[in-house]
Amino acid sequence: MIPASPQADSAVGHKPPTIIQGGMGAAVSSWRLASQVAQAGQLGVVSGVGLDLVLARRLQDGDQGGHMRRALAAFPVPAVAARAAKRYFLPEGRAAGRPYAPVPRLAVKQGRRSQELSVLGNFVEVWLAKEGHHGIVGINYLEKVQLATPAAAYGAMLAGVDYVLMGAGLPREIPRLLNQLAGHHSLSFPVTVAGAEPGRFAVALDPFALLGVTLPPLHRPRFLAIVSAHVLAEYLARTEEIRPDGFVIEGPRAGGHNAPPRGKSVLDEFGEPQFGPRDYADIEKVAAIGLPFWLAGAYGTPEGLRAAQAAGAVGIQVGTLFALSSDSNFDPAIRETLVEGTADGTLQVTTDLRGSPTGFPFKVAKVARSLSDADVVAARPRLCDLGFLGVPYLRSNDTVGHRCPSEPEKQFVRKGGAKGDTAGRLCLCNALMTNVGLGQTRATGYVEKPLVTLGADLDGPQRLAVLHPDGWTAHQALAWLLEPIES
Ligand SMILES: Cc1cc2nc3c(=O)[nH]c(=O)nc-3n(C[C@H](O)[C@H](O)[C@H](O)COP(=O)(O)O)c2cc1C
Repeated sequence: MIPASPQADSAVGHKPPTIIQGGMGAAVSSWRLASQVAQAGQLGVVSGVGLDLVLARRLQDGDQGGHMRRALAAFPVPAVAARAAKRYFLPEGRAAGRPYAPVPRLAVKQGRRSQELSVLGNFVEVWLAKEGHHGIVGINYLEKVQLATPAAAYGAMLAGVDYVLMGAGLPREIPRLLNQLAGHHSLSFPVTVAGAEPGRFAVALDPFALLGVTLPPLHRPRFLAIVSAHVLAEYLARTEEIRPDGFVIEGPRAGGHNAPPRGKSVLDEFGEPQFGPRDYADIEKVAAIGLPFWLAGAYGTPEGLRAAQAAGAVGIQVGTLFALSSDSNFDPAIRETLVEGTADGTLQVTTDLRGSPTGFPFKVAKVARSLSDADVVAARPRLCDLGFLGVPYLRSNDTVGHRCPSEPEKQFVRKGGAKGDTAGRLCLCNALMTNVGLGQTRATGYVEKPLVTLGADLDGPQRLAVLHPDGWTAHQALAWLLEPIES
């Protein structure tokens, strides 16, 4: 049995949550949903992907309800918050057809503006999720999106985030990063640059230089690594410096990105990969590690919770049930379509091996007028202007560039990418923004289309749709999941 790390003991005095409402990007698990779950005594998790862009766009839409500005007013360095508000806030919102202004991209060498906006975006989301109660709130990041992580995690910690969760890769560097950020230490966070030897490049963050003030030490959040295989959990647990405080073990039916199928991939008649027993972690081996863990991916039912606990898990992480609740931040029209399709059994969720520029399989809900339809994809002008899911690469002149397999093919190949890597790729960054009502309008009038992800298991939502034909809240979903345990 591995002892819990000293940081974990000093982190939160709460008992571990039975239910983790999974992070759902981008901004599907927004502050409102996480707040509702936290108020019900479970772990509410905001998505930490692209929160600089989310903040800038909400401000440009007039900051409905004043929530962004209320949270910005709580930022410990008012001048930093004021700069962002001045740059992006439009009291009347955007004029019809006016595109959102671009935000600075986070690169390996990061300027003040990009770091400030990332710190603020993450601060705002966590601050709002924690406002007015004593429940616990986490933030979810993707390991693949390395450039953003230091500034993003710092912003979340300035707002007192209780848990950081990270999937889509092997998060070795996070325990150390969180320790450094808790002390406001100037740090260097190693990042992978395609074509460069490992360890050559790092993102620098100097909190004092950025904010210009000395702040009291921060509370160090607990860190949960989201992994798909017991061997990855065993590897991370072996060494103290990289050991998380626990694991979320996510199976191949979960929403969002999945781990690729192991071994030679077998496709069915529709071109979908077949996941087999080897794609599921050996839970006995995970339990033998001795760290707390939660099971995710098709566990979002009362029976799923019971089965997970019988296997030694503290509880479960649930996504789809909350994504379809009225507290999620899906565009209401999209959510309505999804709930209707769930209730009448017509909604299909498939695994797209090629769509995501990250190269990971991605669960896609078939929704009319979204990028799940080949004609809608064909009609989209191919471009990449957000770049959250691309990678830095080493140019021939020894500087670092940025490329994404979803950008125009010629451009990608000119940057040294392989042509074959572009086939079937979709612009997730723009589509995910449209899913939450923040889609870009181009100068040509083209409006970015959505691409919806959900888990493959719709049993829970179907049963809740019978209990609550007019839709359900996060509290109702939690009450249903927990009823057998609480009664
Ligand atoms: C709409 C949606 C978006 C998601 N986005 C992310 C994400 O950004 N990062 C992540 O680690 N997991 C993401 N997930 C996975 C969930 O956090 C959760 O682990 C998973 O959905 C659990 O499986 P379930 O949907 O069967 O409950 C997403 C899931 C959904 C439904």
